[in-house]
Amino acid sequence: MIDIVLSKGRIEKTFIKRLMDKRIINKIDYDRELVIKTDNIKILIVNSKDVFSLLDNKSSIGIVGSDVIEEYGQNEFLELLDLNSGVCDFSLATMPTTKIEDIKTIATKYPKIAMKCLKELKLNCEIIKKNGSLELYPRIGYVDGIIDLVETGKTLEANGLVVLKRFDKISTKVITKNENQENKEIKKLINELR
Ligand code: PRP
Repeated sequence: MIDIVLSKGRIEKTFIKRLMDKRIINKIDYDRELVIKTDNIKILIVNSKDVFSLLDNKSSIGIVGSDVIEEYGQNEFLELLDLNSGVCDFSLATMPTTKIEDIKTIATKYPKIAMKCLKELKLNCEIIKKNGSLELYPRIGYVDGIIDLVETGKTLEANGLVVLKRFDKISTKVITKNENQENKEIKKLINELR
């Protein structure tokens, strides 16, 4: 039995589709269930930040965005495969009238990554941690900009924001604990997922 600890939300839907398309699991209809069991796979659907703490030294793998790995990951985890799905950009976005040199405050869900991005721009500004719906904050004048993921760009557009600068791309990764590197069950599943 292999345990897949899967990030809830966008990653979840794309990954389950991949499991079905590659015939690793049979077609399933699921709605809000947090545990999906087949004969040899158990999928646990959790908040992305909790994937790390739920991986163990047995046959368990995690499916998580590289954004979450960069912000919260630790050395005890190994990246086994890039699924090349869920691809987004990290971007600095502002109201259209804001100039880069005027940015004094930014909101983000990822303070560690944001600090790296600001360093790259040589921009010295205050980072305010928020938990989601960041596009609201420049709109109401709470901050000058946001550093966040942009996938289709629709949320920015709907809120009248523009991208000032794009940083690294992120995508979905398969991870495990370092100790599981030679696990045969995991190796087999990775080959099937490719
Ligand atoms: C992400 C991100 C943006 C949005 C961008 O949030 O923080 O708000 O998606 O997507 P788009 O470019 O396709 O419009 P997500 O919906 O993942 O959830 P959250 O805000 O609850 O973290």
